[in-house]
Amino acid sequence: MKTCAELQKNVGLTELNTLRVSATARYYMDVVSLDDVRRALAWAEKNEVRTLVLGSGSNLVFAGDFSGLVIRMQIAARHWEQVDDTGATLVLGAGESWHEAVLYAAGSGYRGIENLALIPGTAGAAPVQNIGAYGVELCDTLVSVTALDRKLNEVVCLDNAQCGFAYRDSLFKRSPGRYIITEIRLRLSREKPLQLGYKDLQEYLGETVSQDLDVLAVAEAVMAIRRRKLPDPDIIPNVGSFFKNPVVSAEQFSRLQAEHPDVVGYLQKDTVKLAAAWLIDQCGWKGYRNARVGVHNRQALVLINHSGGAGQDVLELASDIRQSVKKRFDVDLEMEPGIVGG
Ligand code: EPU
Repeated sequence: MKTCAELQKNVGLTELNTLRVSATARYYMDVVSLDDVRRALAWAEKNEVRTLVLGSGSNLVFAGDFSGLVIRMQIAARHWEQVDDTGATLVLGAGESWHEAVLYAAGSGYRGIENLALIPGTAGAAPVQNIGAYGVELCDTLVSVTALDRKLNEVVCLDNAQCGFAYRDSLFKRSPGRYIITEIRLRLSREKPLQLGYKDLQEYLGETVSQDLDVLAVAEAVMAIRRRKLPDPDIIPNVGSFFKNPVVSAEQFSRLQAEHPDVVGYLQKDTVKLAAAWLIDQCGWKGYRNARVGVHNRQALVLINHSGGAGQDVLELASDIRQSVKKRFDVDLEMEPGIVGG
């Protein structure tokens, strides 16, 4: 195992982002420890270059080359704390694969993150956008995040409330560059009810839906549903949902419903979360493709890089989609992945 971050120059990033767009990092370091992170930051400061922490590159779009230092997060750690009859706390290093961690937890009989199986990315990236799927969000189990706070220049441990989680949002997303997450803690349970209410899960499990299901069987059901609907980034380059589901006022939803009776929305407290996929689908984008990029033919929220598309090609398509949704429904779509470089 490497113990000391080594500086590399002009490193290709195409294999390090799941959209497989071509980009180069002017400077690059693999980091496997907090000391490595400190070394990388000290180098960047001394040389006055920007930094970008990269996990598995599954939620960002390189609009071009990155002229600063890419810090590739590879801190590995996976162990249990506070194990008792009812549950246990899973500690994950930021560089751990999220999906592997889900299988590990579910395979050990612990409930809480099985609905988040097969979400690409690292454990350290999971809190940034508060990953969520099939009725569960990371914030439902997250106890704390350990991070290097670059503003205070110290290691901080932020509890769930301090992380300011919301739908696909967190303190980390709202303060870009400030925190470098090194470790997360999740409280998992042996007793908590399984979350089986999401329509797709109900349909898939059919008569087998039961609280007696093995937690690994639920993870496997989620994996099967995802494989049916979402493209595998290892085969068809993509970054999952490209847009967030937009939240609109109850009044705006009523107006939309009057014009489009089939509009898909989920009532929240005072607002309605619209299905962005439905809006995009209605504008005729599902399955669209040009020479290089397109929209997945089974989930209109997912943009794909068919054939050597550049980040700019994907961003242009995203812009066209946003405009047509705005024109037809007067709804603004917000991009989910971050844009970097260029
Ligand atoms: N729909 C369409 N056309 C489509 C796809 C979906 O009309 O092409 C409709 C469906 O019929 C359904 C509604 O849109 O009524 C919602 O679809 P779905 O249940 O597939 O979920 P989603 O809202 O599109 C969200 C997450 C996904 C997550 C699924 C399952 C966001 C932005 N996306 O998608 O997350 O897997 O729910 O929980 O919240 C990701 O973040 O990368 C991601 C894949």
